[in-house]
Amino acid sequence: MRIKYSLPIVFFVALVIIEKENNIISRVSGKLALKQTPQTPVQPSRSAGAPAERDVSVPSVGKLSSAFTLMKRRLENYSDDQPASLEAAPPAPRPPQPIRRHILLLATTRTGSSFVGEFFNQQVDNMFYLYEPLWHVEKTLTLETGGTNATAAAKAYRDVLRQLFLCDFSLLESFIDPLPVDHVTASLFRRESSSSLCGEAVCGPFVKGVFERYHCRNRRCGPLNLTAASEACLRKEHRAIKSVRVRQLETLRPLAEDPRLDVKFIQLVRDPRAVLASRMVAFAAKYNNWKQWAKNRDMPIDDDDEVKKLKSNCNSIRTSAEVGLRRPAWLRGRYMLVRYEDVARFPVRKAAEMYRFTGIPFAPQVKAWILKSTRASEETGGIYSTQKNSSQQVEKWRFRLPFEIVQVVQKVCGPTLKLFGYKFVTSEEMLTDKSISLIEDFW
Ligand SMILES: *[C@@H]1O[C@H](CO)[C@@H](O)[C@H](O)[C@H]1NC(C)=O
Ligand SMILES: *[C@@H]1O[C@H](CO)[C@@H](O)[C@H](O)[C@H]1NC(C)=O
Ligand SMILES: *[C@@H]1O[C@H](CO)[C@@H](O)[C@H](O)[C@H]1NC(C)=O
Ligand SMILES: *[C@@H]1O[C@H](CO)[C@@H](O)[C@H](O)[C@H]1NC(C)=O
Repeated sequence: MRIKYSLPIVFFVALVIIEKENNIISRVSGKLALKQTPQTPVQPSRSAGAPAERDVSVPSVGKLSSAFTLMKRRLENYSDDQPASLEAAPPAPRPPQPIRRHILLLATTRTGSSFVGEFFNQQVDNMFYLYEPLWHVEKTLTLETGGTNATAAAKAYRDVLRQLFLCDFSLLESFIDPLPVDHVTASLFRRESSSSLCGEAVCGPFVKGVFERYHCRNRRCGPLNLTAASEACLRKEHRAIKSVRVRQLETLRPLAEDPRLDVKFIQLVRDPRAVLASRMVAFAAKYNNWKQWAKNRDMPIDDDDEVKKLKSNCNSIRTSAEVGLRRPAWLRGRYMLVRYEDVARFPVRKAAEMYRFTGIPFAPQVKAWILKSTRASEETGGIYSTQKNSSQQVEKWRFRLPFEIVQVVQKVCGPTLKLFGYKFVTSEEMLTDKSISLIEDFW
């Protein structure tokens, strides 16, 4: 029965593509359906089915018409996503749709993700960029133990990200503390790190007496109006979000498969030894145990909680990357792995590669920003400079982390180091010998 219908259906699909006017389609489909009726008798073999099925087997003109309307709509959705798959069909006379990309920069803390996020934040003309919106979600979902329920958090992260990519802030709002009033909040985490949230369109009048902790730096704005932010978002061509909170890439699969989105995942990784060294400085209180071990040149035991945490972090980063590198169908063309060390050494080249991957032109102002931020140390620098020569930063950890700690990291994060091409050091001398690079070049 299906096969019998498929020929006329294919014919109609072609018609649907050629004829955009609904009234023409129903007129033509009405004529054809009438002609066809005598050729499609009820098949006795199918009569085992319920009477309702038999009704379906002799569809009325009206039913056919509505079926074709539905198919036409489906087809529109389908061709939006995969224009190439309709090559065989005649070109559809529809206006060219702007390609809208949804970039998700996935990282962990101290991997240079704020810097890499700027590559997209600086593309002010056509990019709506959000910096760590999931901070609010994590904070709300943090349990008394200090951690989160990974399953519940993963689902909340995914749902919030999906809405934000569609410029809908409502779910995120429910996680902001205190709750926004009339969609206005003075508490959005790091608002100032997102130029989209400090732009003209989103910068409301300054309100005296309202304290905004993360206030815009470039101008004085009132508290953030999320309705205005949403409107600004809808006007931008592309959207980018940076997050250090998603633990498993796999949990974001529904985003990759959502027909409303065209998601590009960029996973940023860094040598776990360097990450640990950096966290011991940045999050000194949390890393007190590590600092003690480093100071005393002790080696913590394998089942110490801190060591287990490190191992679990390394494993989740590696597992995500393994999923991406395996290139399953749902991720094809949607995953890029980037090492911090490569970004630090070749920032412009890597930024250009990222833009090529996303299919968005690499704007000159982004390139100019990168050059300014990576090169300025000597000229404008001194100790007051916030701009670092990022090449120099890459190897600094080798003089900060004692060999004992390095050995522990290599032991628990071994497979992660191997996967990303970070060489093991086998002696104290090798650790501090700068003529030996620890970064393999197979990328
Ligand atoms: C097409 O996509 C829109 C959202 O983009 C959705 O609302 C609509 O139901 C879809 N149509 C069909 C027939 O799947
Ligand atoms: C975590 O959350 C999920 C879903 O919300 C729930 O089914 C599960 O029991 C929770 N697990 C723990 C350990 O609380
Ligand atoms: C927020 O912005 C929207 C749209 O720009 C506007 O209609 C609304 O009045 C603003 N809300 C407040 C409380 O200012
Ligand atoms: C950064 O410093 C290194 C070592 O001092 C130097 O070789 C490199 O050229 C500098 N990079 C830039 C972009 O200036």
